[in-house]
Amino acid sequence: MESNKRTVTCGQLRKGDVGKNVVLNGWVSRSRDLGGLVFIQLRDRYGITQVMVGDGASDEVKKIASSLKSEYCIAVAGVVAARSEKDVNPDMATGEIEVEAKEIEIFTTSQELPFSIEEVRQKDGTVVLPNEDLRLKYRYLDLRREPMQKNIILRSQVTFATREYLTGKGFLEIETPTFIKSTPEGARDYLVPSRVHPGKFYSLPQSPQLYKQLLMVSGFDKYFQIARCYRDEDARGDRQPEFTQIDMEMSFTNREEVLETTEGLMGYIFKKTLNYDLPAKFDRISWDDAFDLYGSDKPDLRFDLKMQDASFMADLSDFNAFKAGAANADKSIERHKRSGLKALVVKNVADKYSRKMIEALESVAKINHAKGLAWMKVDAEGKFEGGISKFFAGKESEICGKLGAEKNDLLLFVSDEKWQTACVALGAVRKQLGKDLNLYNPKDEFHFAWIIDFPYFAWNEDENHWETEHHMFTLPQKKYWDTLESDPGAVKGDLYDLVLNGYELASGSMRINDPALQQRIFKIVGYSEERAQKAFGFLVQAFKFGAPPHGGIAPGLDRLVMLMRHEESIHEVIAFPKNNLAASPMDECPSVVDQQQLDDLHLKCTEVEKD
Ligand code: AMO
Repeated sequence: MESNKRTVTCGQLRKGDVGKNVVLNGWVSRSRDLGGLVFIQLRDRYGITQVMVGDGASDEVKKIASSLKSEYCIAVAGVVAARSEKDVNPDMATGEIEVEAKEIEIFTTSQELPFSIEEVRQKDGTVVLPNEDLRLKYRYLDLRREPMQKNIILRSQVTFATREYLTGKGFLEIETPTFIKSTPEGARDYLVPSRVHPGKFYSLPQSPQLYKQLLMVSGFDKYFQIARCYRDEDARGDRQPEFTQIDMEMSFTNREEVLETTEGLMGYIFKKTLNYDLPAKFDRISWDDAFDLYGSDKPDLRFDLKMQDASFMADLSDFNAFKAGAANADKSIERHKRSGLKALVVKNVADKYSRKMIEALESVAKINHAKGLAWMKVDAEGKFEGGISKFFAGKESEICGKLGAEKNDLLLFVSDEKWQTACVALGAVRKQLGKDLNLYNPKDEFHFAWIIDFPYFAWNEDENHWETEHHMFTLPQKKYWDTLESDPGAVKGDLYDLVLNGYELASGSMRINDPALQQRIFKIVGYSEERAQKAFGFLVQAFKFGAPPHGGIAPGLDRLVMLMRHEESIHEVIAFPKNNLAASPMDECPSVVDQQQLDDLHLKCTEVEKD
């Protein structure tokens, strides 16, 4: 071969290229030897091209072609030929042509694979994936699989679109350090020991929060960063110990501008990468309503099944379980005064729902701390049947009228003396019903919404003190400034979450820029001046030099790409993620290090995990 460097990719050739001499490079996805005729599916990240080794090829080329196995990395020089009409493959972008090989060079062979790179499906059509640790051990092979290639390519496109949009809006991309001072911030820190400062540690940032606020003090009024963040917390499908945020901060701004900028960014990303039109504005739902209607501060709004207040039912019978919920003993905080007797009316499914299926829903409610899940059905005559129906016989028209229930509807109830407990439990049932009954609106593939007006403080029952719901630099809404100390439970924060399809995608807030207000917050959450000084002294100090009003937000990039690709775990959109034990089976990290390294770092291990 004169040159084995590719002249085209495996996704490029079309009918108009017939007759051209080309060189392709790629991996053997499949090869079929039909005795004298060999067909090779050659793959690279751009697609697959069929290579044909037939009569026109020399004996040597035929011999090489017959020796090819899956995932050999090869070069093919040949001529583009049109496929006969019956051989055209409409499912392949290159399906109208094939390349007749004149020469083949094997760059490298491949060992037997630990799993198939091609998609494997069960008889019922479900895709079978190898076990996750095996995929992670051979991640470089796992990444050759088509869905993973699509995920990683989309991720790169989303990152690029982000940079394009924000730069176009005047944002500056500024890096902040990844070795920082350990400050209390929600999760546990990952620590890096210092060699030159014995006994001292850097911490890896949980987010660039404090630095982006300092950049505002420096006058960089529009900042963003595709920022790596590190949190030592238990792994879940939507959590990784290291993950990436699209971190943003703005000065001389207000909530409206931050929300609009984020809406604009999401709209741009979805249009540019998926050609999908998002609405220009996303719904806004108060935190109280999100719990009251959907039982979650990250509701899945792709379906419109709302919970209802059923407290009127407590007076209609002597069914005791409903009395406590309706009475709601927990009136400590304004929002908790809402009724703890919640109902869901599930349309037209009563005949489909067996007792066993309802029991499965009840266990969802119970896992979420409900005492039980009460139910009854509206039968074909409009009478209640099953479950708790005997307590409400004869009251059909009042109850159905108020709840909007009709024949063949299933009514589900959770009653709890705590409003939030009832909401969360029935909300979990709502989410399950969405899945079980596939209630999602097909035209609503991506449903964004803002959750606003969060409570500012939460009472820590174990430690008996107030703490902030978000971080301590969040601005309380102005109308509560006079009553911060006297009624902390009522205070709402100037903070907002962006939710997408039932996930928290982003969190942000307007920040405090007045040192005196900041001190008041520290005090309410029990931070002495000394402790606050030790932890955040540098920020408090910086704010004494004319800190501008500012605010920002941080969408999680991993979650965003996961949802755009309808994946269930962020592992699927990170090239080299950790497993659920925060380890990497491929490079066996974390690992034991040499004694000398420990000595250099002045460290002694008191316990070492056995391999
Ligand atoms: P927060 O802690 O809510 O806010 O994080 C913002 C977003 O980051 C993503 N995220 C994660 N993604 C994967 N794995 C994790 N372990 C993980 N933790 C968080 C989520 C989340 O919505 N500094 C503030 C933001 C601000 O106020 O500007 C912050 O970090 O998508």
